[in-house]
Amino acid sequence: MIFYFSGTGNSLYAAERIREQIGGRVIDMAEAMEKSQYRYEIEAGDRIGFVFPAYYYGLPTIVKEFIGKIEMNTTDSVHVYSVVTCGANYGAVDRVMKKLLKEKGLNLSAFYGLPMVDNFIFGYDLQNKVEQEQTLKNAEGRLRAIMKSISVNGKSDKPSTFFERMLTGAVYPIYEKGRKTRKFYADNRCISCNLCEEICPAKAIEMVDGRPKWIKEQCIHCVACINRCPVEAIQYGQSTKKRNRYVHPILK
Ligand SMILES: Cc1cc2nc3c(=O)[nH]c(=O)nc-3n(C[C@H](O)[C@H](O)[C@H](O)COP(=O)(O)O)c2cc1C
Ligand code: SF4
Ligand code: SF4
Repeated sequence: MIFYFSGTGNSLYAAERIREQIGGRVIDMAEAMEKSQYRYEIEAGDRIGFVFPAYYYGLPTIVKEFIGKIEMNTTDSVHVYSVVTCGANYGAVDRVMKKLLKEKGLNLSAFYGLPMVDNFIFGYDLQNKVEQEQTLKNAEGRLRAIMKSISVNGKSDKPSTFFERMLTGAVYPIYEKGRKTRKFYADNRCISCNLCEEICPAKAIEMVDGRPKWIKEQCIHCVACINRCPVEAIQYGQSTKKRNRYVHPILK
């Protein structure tokens, strides 16, 4: 079983590649939440994976919520691993995951960080298309090494440092308390295709008179809507107007 969450496709791609290599079922945590599917049967010898992006050196709120609700029969002989895709640094996500899973009776056996294209368009400009392609090519070697390790129930990356734990502790609350939607809007390039409403994992977008309206005060800040809009009409304040967009080829 491979549970994943993904805004712009990096984590979906990693989850699918792992499935191709080691088999099993890929489960979208956002879809499972929507259907209130929290109970999963596991058997001795199973591998259980959690694949998702790092947000503010921590977990996307939806992943934290899903793990909090998950119900599994526990057995000692399962191999639980997690792969966190990121731009560069995932802070102490390994620690946070270990603690969250322990509360569910699951022992996190292996944790891996996988740098891919950074999609954090709220904060800075993204790589251009050529750079994005190169970054994805560079990520392949690391992904292969992770898949090889998972296939033999291998060991984790080195654990996060004291500094990384401090970083997560200081920065993650900014995300948890923030995540506001009030700066989102669609400019007049919007072609009313409805994609943003359909893909929003927080159900925070509703089409009103052919234009998206953000109907919740907070969302996951997954950047799917802003990056995947086919005409780049979605903005977050003024700063994103001239910034590049990013969508992993698996979603195109
Ligand atoms: C809200 C938000 C916060 C992020 N925080 C981090 C971070 O702390 N460290 C990092 O290396 N990348 C960070 N990123 C970049 C993503 O983790 C990275 O691009 C990830 O691979 C995206 O995965 P996805 O395509 O599956 O959504 C952040 C992205 C977003 C949208
Ligand atoms: S994805 Fe873009 S074009 Fe489509 S409805 Fe949303 S804002 Fe409009
Ligand atoms: S509104 Fe946009 S950024 Fe927020 S959860 Fe929905 S798709 Fe993601």
